[in-house]
Amino acid sequence: MNSNIEAAELNMEEADELKYSRTVEDLPGPKGIPFFGNQLQMLGSQWHVTLSNYIREFGPIYRMNELKVGGVFTAEGEDWRKQRKLVTGGLSVEVIRNFFPTMGMMTQRMVDRWKATLADGKRVDLRRDLKALALDIIVGIAMGYDLNVVSDDSHPLQHDLDSLMRRLASRGTSLYPYWRRFRLPVDRAADQSAHDVEQTVLRLIGETRERMKQRPQLREDPTNMLEAMIVASEDPESDFSDQDLVSNAIASVVGGIDTTANSIAWMINLLAQNPETASKLTAEVDAVLGDARMSREWEQMKLLPYLDAAHSETQRLRSSTPFLGLIAKADCVVADTFLPKGMVIFVPTTFGDGLDETQFPQHEQFQPERWIFEHKPQKDEDPARKVFPFGGGQRLCPGRFLALIEVKVVVSAIMRNFELEFDTTAPPVQQVMTFFMGPSAVPVRLRSRT
Ligand code: HEM
Repeated sequence: MNSNIEAAELNMEEADELKYSRTVEDLPGPKGIPFFGNQLQMLGSQWHVTLSNYIREFGPIYRMNELKVGGVFTAEGEDWRKQRKLVTGGLSVEVIRNFFPTMGMMTQRMVDRWKATLADGKRVDLRRDLKALALDIIVGIAMGYDLNVVSDDSHPLQHDLDSLMRRLASRGTSLYPYWRRFRLPVDRAADQSAHDVEQTVLRLIGETRERMKQRPQLREDPTNMLEAMIVASEDPESDFSDQDLVSNAIASVVGGIDTTANSIAWMINLLAQNPETASKLTAEVDAVLGDARMSREWEQMKLLPYLDAAHSETQRLRSSTPFLGLIAKADCVVADTFLPKGMVIFVPTTFGDGLDETQFPQHEQFQPERWIFEHKPQKDEDPARKVFPFGGGQRLCPGRFLALIEVKVVVSAIMRNFELEFDTTAPPVQQVMTFFMGPSAVPVRLRSRT
């Protein structure tokens, strides 16, 4: 389905008045097989590419059979509204700004480690380390805890979060939700991990409350999401329980690891494959950071337009969330097609218009310049109105500002300290879709800049 289609959502009483010329049955679409429908085409790590190719084959709106979606971000109605308030408050600009020095410290730790690895004549495992850093940062802000997975990946909390993420990913593409009827050993292990993560976060909440007693100024000026959520839960008008704090801390960690780690990994791959673009970015970073090897000043975050553009272009070409699975809450009409309540639809965030040659000429090329304008572009020419890597509307990603700052801190540190060389002998990088879409590898060699 194309992203510029407007969804007209109406009440059930108005359903009789909906105007359309076709129903889902009339739509073109790939042939499925009995019982499994199109699910077998959707298995594995390339289902987002399949969906994207179907747009070219069948047009902006097409039909698929027997597909199930569910997952952590499907809370609805009043419950969602309440939880959402906690998360957006916990990820406010002030909290992110207060967390900025910690994010810098964590990034510096990774850069130092990479320098030591290179000095020993060894190769840096970029894929592993970028994920470890994203985990350190998101656990740091969401739970107020320094895991330090960059230096050591034996922490039980890391193991438990990993186990949860793997289960979520495999359930997201499972043929049948068997776990509602019986549990396999992997499910029992994931349940145990969920329990352990919950206990750890409850303990961290207790410790954070203690720290806030010692340092009452943290109430006015929280330095992480957990502190901000604790303050919100103490408001007599609110009825947030500790369980709400736990679920939202975990939801943010789930939403914030692979999305940012994959985005940065893709960006490094694309920059290494486009050395001229990488040089332009390095020049911008050098000019802004001066003698410093890392960004330490919040104000510098506003001075990196080319980095911003390179990030937007990365999201267009290699989004970690290229499609959203949505469920119609009422009978509605989309693109002149009647969709009944409960129907699951996949909407491209970036892989619709973002990969359309008429919207983005030479669409396969990585060109950050597409996102740079002397004057604000006209509505029709504004690329930001054609792709939506962070979704849109009420459920717009609440972590987007954190992600944008994280990308800037981490990528500017990499470009300031290292040169990138793409390993042309490595096997081609594949797009791998689990819960989020990431590269199969980051075959990039780093060289320390003196
Ligand atoms: C480059 C990084 C990121 C991308 C591309 C991304 C993308 C998205 C998208 C497309 C959605 C669905 C929005 C919609 O339904 O319209 C979403 C939701 C969400 N994201 Fe992100 N995200 C990123 C980073 C983060 C981070 C760092 C966090 C946590 C701190 C986070 C937490 C969430 C949460 C909790 C939701 C669910 C919101 C709701 O249902 O109300 N995301 N994200």
